[in-house]
Amino acid sequence: MSKRPEWLDAAVFYEIYPQSFKDTDGDGIGNINGMTEKLSYIRELGCNAIWINPCFESPFGDAGYDVSDYCRIAPRYGTNDDMVRLFEEAHKQGIHILLDLVPGHTSWDHPWFKESMKAARNEYTDRYVWTDSVWEEPEGFSTIRGLSERDGSCIVNFFTHQPALNYGFYRPEKPWQQAMDAPGPQATIEALKDIMRFWLSKGCDGFRVDMAGSLVKNDEDQKGTIALWQNIRAFLDEEYPEAAMVSEWGEPDKSLAGGFHMDFLLHFGPSHYNDLFRCEKPFFAGNGDASEFVAKYIENYERSERKGLICIPSGNHDMDRLARHIKGDNRRLAFAFLLSMPGAPYIYYGDEIGMNYVEGLASVEGGYGRTGSRSPMQWDTSENAGFSSAPSDRLYIPIDPSEDRPDAASQTEDEASLRSEVKRLIAVRQSHKALNNLGDIEFILNGAKEKPLAYTRSFDGEKIFVIINPADEKYEMTSAEGLSDIIYKFGECSVTDTGCVIGPHSAAFIRQGADRGSEASE
Ligand code: GLC
Repeated sequence: MSKRPEWLDAAVFYEIYPQSFKDTDGDGIGNINGMTEKLSYIRELGCNAIWINPCFESPFGDAGYDVSDYCRIAPRYGTNDDMVRLFEEAHKQGIHILLDLVPGHTSWDHPWFKESMKAARNEYTDRYVWTDSVWEEPEGFSTIRGLSERDGSCIVNFFTHQPALNYGFYRPEKPWQQAMDAPGPQATIEALKDIMRFWLSKGCDGFRVDMAGSLVKNDEDQKGTIALWQNIRAFLDEEYPEAAMVSEWGEPDKSLAGGFHMDFLLHFGPSHYNDLFRCEKPFFAGNGDASEFVAKYIENYERSERKGLICIPSGNHDMDRLARHIKGDNRRLAFAFLLSMPGAPYIYYGDEIGMNYVEGLASVEGGYGRTGSRSPMQWDTSENAGFSSAPSDRLYIPIDPSEDRPDAASQTEDEASLRSEVKRLIAVRQSHKALNNLGDIEFILNGAKEKPLAYTRSFDGEKIFVIINPADEKYEMTSAEGLSDIIYKFGECSVTDTGCVIGPHSAAFIRQGADRGSEASE
């Protein structure tokens, strides 16, 4: 059993999209020093961990998910030394940092790919997945064809400019499909370990792993990909046992078997995550139904042995801003949910102040519809919302033009703001182990047909009942025994002999049972 970095158990993450966070050199794009400058803002909110989207050298056809040098910070963000300083300053403030590791593909500008396109055999010929004839277009895959003298088609992993690295096929069926233990795939794994070593030795605390389930091909049950990650975990246990690993996979039973500590709940696929926040009638808008989400969550939770390691994000760089569909006080209820669920919560920069999805923007760096969720952080009411001193037409993405756009400085001062609510919620979570990442969860009400969502979180004798009602009507809960003091409340809630009455657009966390349990030390 691999070691588990203890800090993960109480981690509340903040996701930074580096382009749009804080520009300190006036070129209109965020940078590493901007993140360092804003660490105290993140710490003051209560977050103690950060995930940074890829910030490595790249032609930025997919905002940096198309890496051309894994071991070099993109010059527009600063230098490797700036990154080391960010690690050091973060650690001084008790913040851990995960970098984004993109193991499935590179940019087609990566020197490895350029070498692999050559007709003459070389060290990188087998670094990517190539067919042995340009006329072959393998079923089920998109390919890059006709760009090289090499006679072959190269499989892509996502966009056309992202050729798939070669980790082999679980069941090779054609001569060009290499086995996982063939020299090419083995060399790719070693190269991946070298990248991880490089950043871990500089002080990074681990990785969020992009498309972690996509590596081995023809691998329906993902047995090959799981084995590959077990190999990586064994290397980490040997050399960097404290390294934290969080996967973008969406199947916690598989990713945990592969040695990941936590897995993300995805906004695509079968998770029903969007039923809560982003659909025609989202649950948190007050008129939706959370029951299919709950059913799927429980299924995954059971499959991963109730380890509670499914991370639920407020949003991310790939989906609509939370504020696009959830309005007013109901945003607070969404955070009451996110910050009382098992697994580490992830707050996407700016969601804590209710930043808008900026409508109608032209796509930037392969953002397409995602661009509206990637606009610059709104720090204050000064020029460019305090994001950058560049002329506004030179900004990476335009600032939200709305007159009533929220900003961090005003909300930090205002006790009644969304940010202050989020801060209170993080503080409550961090002072009760039952609400932390490892506490158990039992659903009591599944949010079906405009009913509240209610669940009990427990850990080591402490039990906390959570009830969240985004609907317009109050709800009387008559089957929750032993409720005592309310440790967090937004809106209205009163405890009764048989349960509680929760007001419309309200949330409460209530102690349950005689044992008052253990207060977490931090
Ligand atoms: C992940 C990233 C996304 C990127 C894709 C390809 O889903 O979150 O932004 O475009 O992988 O790397």
